[in-house]
Amino acid sequence: MIKENKKIKRIKTICCVGAGYVGGPSMAVIADRCPDLNIFVVDSNLQRVDAWNNDDLSKLPIYEPGLDKVVSRTRNRNLFFSNNIDESIKKADMVFISVNTPIKVKGIGAGQTSNLKWVEACARKIKEIATGHTIVVEKSTLPVKTAQSIKDILNSQDQNEVKNKSFSILSNPEFLAEGTAIENLEKPDRVLIGGEDKDAIDLLIQIYENWIPKNKILTTNLWSSELSKLTANAFLAQRISSINSISALCEKTGASVYEVSKAVGLDKRIGKEFLQAGPGFGGSCFKKDILNLVYLCNFYGLGTVADYWEQIIEINNWQQKRIYEIIVNRLFGNLAEKKIAILGFAFKANTNDTRESPAIEIAKNLLLEGAILNIHDPKVNKLQIESAIEVESKSKKSNLNIWNKFERIDDTVNGVDAIVILTDWEDYKNLDWIKISKLMRNPSWIFDTRSVLEKSQIKNLEANYWKLGDGFL
Ligand code: NAD
Ligand code: UDX
Repeated sequence: MIKENKKIKRIKTICCVGAGYVGGPSMAVIADRCPDLNIFVVDSNLQRVDAWNNDDLSKLPIYEPGLDKVVSRTRNRNLFFSNNIDESIKKADMVFISVNTPIKVKGIGAGQTSNLKWVEACARKIKEIATGHTIVVEKSTLPVKTAQSIKDILNSQDQNEVKNKSFSILSNPEFLAEGTAIENLEKPDRVLIGGEDKDAIDLLIQIYENWIPKNKILTTNLWSSELSKLTANAFLAQRISSINSISALCEKTGASVYEVSKAVGLDKRIGKEFLQAGPGFGGSCFKKDILNLVYLCNFYGLGTVADYWEQIIEINNWQQKRIYEIIVNRLFGNLAEKKIAILGFAFKANTNDTRESPAIEIAKNLLLEGAILNIHDPKVNKLQIESAIEVESKSKKSNLNIWNKFERIDDTVNGVDAIVILTDWEDYKNLDWIKISKLMRNPSWIFDTRSVLEKSQIKNLEANYWKLGDGFL
């Protein structure tokens, strides 16, 4: 079917390129709330597509509370996962770009700015394949001004090409947080749409209006929309680094960071969210988005502004390093062949995502000290851990298991010298910690970086207990 190159009156068919943590859940919720729309989510990774189509909903490629229910209502009704990229783009009135934008690892801007090769590949594919008028929506998080490059690609004309297609470009950044994605998509604080073409903006608003109150839908120009996403993430991360910096001061002075953050957060102007001290922020977004902000500031000659934002990442790295150093110090400065249990490998609870998880750096450093790690996480599998820490579980030299993934907590903690709690899984809060402390090798330590244990659970422990940010213990 060839679409006509004329104004679109109503969106009927959507294509989303990228079936990841954003593309999958966000399109599933749109499909759920807009049964008249047909949504084709495409991905070049066939294994991922197959997992989205798995009859066993516990095997979807992403773990998100509530996602299985939304997918079961919509899949193969008006939501379709495939790798038919060309066919899906061709029939779509609106194409969302939801591909990955990780930090570049080589070339100009390596380690500092996003690699836009996947976004550019999408734009080129859309230009080649789309028919008639197509609205292209940036959903990936992109450095400000990326929409200009996308426009340039879409509007470029090859020699002898008959101009029978046209494009409008919108920015519609996604603000969902992993672990609460469905809740965030169903009841967002706001939806942001940036663009110049009023008709295209109205068509996207019409979709969201199916379940989101109009006063929560904000429209801006393209550049404000792109920059707002980077800024929102930088502000959230800034709060975490701020409270983490104070956690160290609490440990030195006898204050408790939990009391401090409560007292500070009760000020309405500050608010209580994102003031939980921990092992440092992880996830695929915060570090990458701040690095992009820093790169942009330097690019535009704003060195002092760049230095200001860079400190947030500095503090985050420092927090992870200082936790590892505390563990080594408390275990008499020597970890050689000591067994340490890591509870939690995901970057936060309720996700199977390990990207930039603080557990990665901490585990790598403990392994370098010669420790043997017993790792537990309810949703992360052994392969993910192996690719994150880039160390095989068996030492080639001694044939010794230097790390292992366990399914049961009792097996994870049996005979260990220390337990390090790195993810705030609800399951960990309800464990019988006294029984666990009895399974450890004395003198033993529990390092709690997520404030998982309550006062009543600490009292009768047979292990020493260290809690991040609590100088009062
Ligand atoms: P992801 O890596 O989970 O998914 C991206 C998918 O795109 C992959 O499955 C990949 O195979 C596919 N892909 C890449 N290039 C392709 C191409 N040319 N054709 C077809 N498929 C292609 O990434 P994600 O976590 O979903 O993030 C996507 C974007 O959304 C990023 O820009 C990210 O910064 C942003 N974002 C992420 C989150 C989050 O919580 N993960 C939240 C808000 C915004
Ligand atoms: C973040 C943003 O919250 C979201 O709006 C954006 O779309 C994507 O990036 P995400 O990374 O999925 O979402 O999770 P988030 O809840 O922000 O947590 C990020 C990290 O910060 C986690 O490692 C978490 O444990 C940590 N964190 C969060 C804290 O250490 N303390 C807090 O108070 C909050």
